[in-house]
Amino acid sequence: MNIKFNEKTGLFKLDTANTSYVLGIVDKEGFLGHAYYGPKIEDDDVSYLMRIYENPKVPSVNDRDRSSFLDSFPTEISGNSVGDYRESSIVLTDKNGHSGNQFLYKNHRITLGKPEIPGLPATFAGDTNAMTLEIDAVDSVLGIEATLFYSVFMDSDAITRSVRVKNASSETVYLDKIMSLCLDMDDDNYNMLVLHGSWARERQMQYRQIGYGKQSVSSTRGESSHQEHPFMALTEKNATENSGKVYGFNFVYSGNFLAQVEKNQFDSLRIVMGIHPDNFRFRLSPGEEFYAPEVVMVFSDKGLGQMTRCYHDLYRNHLIRSAYLNRPRPILINNWEATYFDFDNEKLLDIAKEAKSCGIEMLVMDDGWFGKRNNDNSSLGDWQVNEAKLKGGLKKLVDEVNALGLKFGIWFEPEMISPDSDLYRAHPDWAIAIPQRQPCRSRNQYVLDLTRKEVRDYAYNCVASILRSANIEYVKWDMNRQLCDLGSTQLEKDCQGELMHRYVLAVYEMQGRLIHDFPDLLLENCSGGGARFDPGMLYYSPQIWCSDDTDAIERLGIQEGTALIYPLSTMGAHVSVCPNHTVGRVTPFSTRGNVALAGTFGYELDITKLSDAEKDEVRLQTELYHKYNELVRCGDYYRLASYRENGNFDSYAVIKKDKSEALITFVQVLNRPNCHSINLKIYGLDEKKTYKVENDDRTYHGSTLKNAGLLIQRPWGDFDSVLIHIKEA
Ligand code: GLA
Repeated sequence: MNIKFNEKTGLFKLDTANTSYVLGIVDKEGFLGHAYYGPKIEDDDVSYLMRIYENPKVPSVNDRDRSSFLDSFPTEISGNSVGDYRESSIVLTDKNGHSGNQFLYKNHRITLGKPEIPGLPATFAGDTNAMTLEIDAVDSVLGIEATLFYSVFMDSDAITRSVRVKNASSETVYLDKIMSLCLDMDDDNYNMLVLHGSWARERQMQYRQIGYGKQSVSSTRGESSHQEHPFMALTEKNATENSGKVYGFNFVYSGNFLAQVEKNQFDSLRIVMGIHPDNFRFRLSPGEEFYAPEVVMVFSDKGLGQMTRCYHDLYRNHLIRSAYLNRPRPILINNWEATYFDFDNEKLLDIAKEAKSCGIEMLVMDDGWFGKRNNDNSSLGDWQVNEAKLKGGLKKLVDEVNALGLKFGIWFEPEMISPDSDLYRAHPDWAIAIPQRQPCRSRNQYVLDLTRKEVRDYAYNCVASILRSANIEYVKWDMNRQLCDLGSTQLEKDCQGELMHRYVLAVYEMQGRLIHDFPDLLLENCSGGGARFDPGMLYYSPQIWCSDDTDAIERLGIQEGTALIYPLSTMGAHVSVCPNHTVGRVTPFSTRGNVALAGTFGYELDITKLSDAEKDEVRLQTELYHKYNELVRCGDYYRLASYRENGNFDSYAVIKKDKSEALITFVQVLNRPNCHSINLKIYGLDEKKTYKVENDDRTYHGSTLKNAGLLIQRPWGDFDSVLIHIKEA
C-alpha cells in the first residue's frame, strides 16, 4: 500500500497491492479531478487521462467555455448548479435560498492509519496497516469545507472513501445532499450488477445494460431494505467468475441510500453512492460538521470471484469487531417456525431436551414471550416477561435450559411500538408520526422515535434489564417494518429532514452500547428476514439472519447474492421442516442441512415432531458442522456453478487459505433424464498440489481439477445434493 503526492503534477496516487487510483489538483482554481482507477500502474503522471489538454481546456485558458469544461471534467466532487449538469455530489442551501456550489482544493494530509468516523460504522485498521489521504476542498462563497477521505490497506485491494462537511462560515446552511462517492470514468461497455429482492427473496443477482442517462438502485425505506441493496458493480461485458474487470461499490450504512451510474453524452460514467437525498436535509449551524458514511470500492481484473473474496477478507479483517468472528457459533434451535406465538416453558424445554440429544447447543426463544403478545397485533414496547407463558419467570426457564447443557438466546424488536401496548397508551408521541396525520401501520406497528434520547434509553434499558435478569448469551435484534410518516415531536421544524439519518445513528448507538455493556453477547441482526443485511450492521453483529425463507432451493439464490459481498460466517442459515412454510416446497432433509452449512447453521423447527430417521440426520448434520465450520468460516469462497444461470444445478466451494482442503456443495435443483455426469471445474486450489477427493480412489492435481474438471455423478431426484470433501494428498 502507498499514497504519494507529486508536487510537480499535483497528482495523488493511491496504490494497493494490485490496484491504483489516481486523482489530482487541476488548474489554478484547484478543481479536484479523477484520472484513473484500475489495475496497478507504474506511472505517476497520468493527468492526460483527465483530458485537460484537449478542448475546451481548463478555465484559466478558456473561461469562455467554462461550462463545457465543468460538464465533461472527471471530478471527485461534483458541484451543483454552476455548470456541471451531471449528478451533483453535494448540495447545500444558503440563507438566501441559493444552492450553487463548487468545491476546490485547499489542503491535504497523508497519514498512517485510518481515522474512525464519529457515530458511524466503518472499516478499521491498526496504526500501520492502512494509509489515509484527506483532501480539504472549500466553497469559498459559502465558507463550507468538504474533506474527502481515502484509505488503502496493507492487506487488501479495497479502497474506502467518505466525506466530512464542515460549516466554517458564520451562517447556518442546509445540507440537502451528500454523496460519499463521486467517481467519473470512461465507459468500457460495462454492465451494472445489482442485488434486488423482496421479503423472503432478498439479494438476487441481476445484470443490467448501462444505457444513456441515469440508472440506480436505492432505498427510501429507512433501512437498507429487502428490495434493493446498497451495492453496485460495474462488470466488463464478458466478465465471468474468474476473468474480466469488475468494479464493486458497497455502502457501509443501514438506512436510505442511492447508488447510481449515469452515462453521459461523452460516453463516460459518473458513479455516485451515498445517503438518498429524498427526505434528507441537515441543518449545519456555524462550526457544525456532518459525516457521510463510507463506500468500499473493490477493483478486480480476475472477475467477480476475486471481488467477492476481497470483500470477504476486508470485512472479516477490518469491519466485524465481534470476538465471535473467529469462533464457532453455537448451533442454535429457534422456536419461530416450530411454534410461532404458541409456546410456554414446557414446550420450550421439550424442544431443548430433544435438541440437546441431537448435538444442538443453544435454544433461542423468538417472538411472543412478553406483554400480551399472542399474535403480532400487540405489545411491542412492553418488554416484561409474560408469566402466563413462562411460568416461574424467565430466569427459571433459562436456568433449566442451561441445566440441560444448552445456552439460551432471546428475540427482541426494540425499535418498535404497538398501538396496542401500555407503552403507546402512556407515550403516544414516542411513535414516529406527522401531527394531524394518522400514521401508516405496518404489521400493526409503529416505529419508535429513537432520535429522542429518552426513547432510546427506554428501549435500550428494556433490553439490558432482561439480559441482566438471566444467563442470556445471544440476542436476535429484529426490525419488522420500514419507516414512513416522517415526523418527530422533538426535532425543530427545519430539522425534520434529519430524522431518517438520526434514526440510523440511534440504532448504531444502541447496538454499540449493547455490545459494550455485554461484551460476551452474541448479537444477530434481523429485519423481517434480511432487510438490514449490510456492512453497517456487521460492524455491530458478526451474523445477520439472511431471510425468512428457509427453503433450501430459494436459499441458493439468496445466499449466492448475499455471499457476493458478505462472508459466509455472517449468513444466518437454518434447517426447517417441509413443506416449507414460505414456498410449500418439499426438499430432502440432507439438502436443507447442506445448504444451511454454508452459513452460521441452526434449526428452525419443532424437533420433538421429527421422525427418528430425521433426528439421526440432525445428529449427522451437527457433526458435519463441527467438521467443516472452521473451513466455511475462514476459507475462500468460489462460486462454481449457478442455478440462476444454468437452470439446473448449483455449486460452490470453500477452500482453506493454505489450499490444503476444500468443501464443495453441489445441489441438483432439477434432475434430467439420460444425462452425463456433470463436469465441474474446481477453481481456487493450488494447481501444483495433488488432492484426494473423499470416496474417490484416485488423486488429482489442482491443475487437473481446474482445467479438466471433476465428474460429479448426478444425485437421484430433484433437490438432491452432495458435499464433496477434498484434501491435499
Ligand atoms: C421476523 C423475523 C423472523 C421472526 C419474526 C417474529 O419476521 O425475520 O425470524 O423472528 O420476525 O415476529
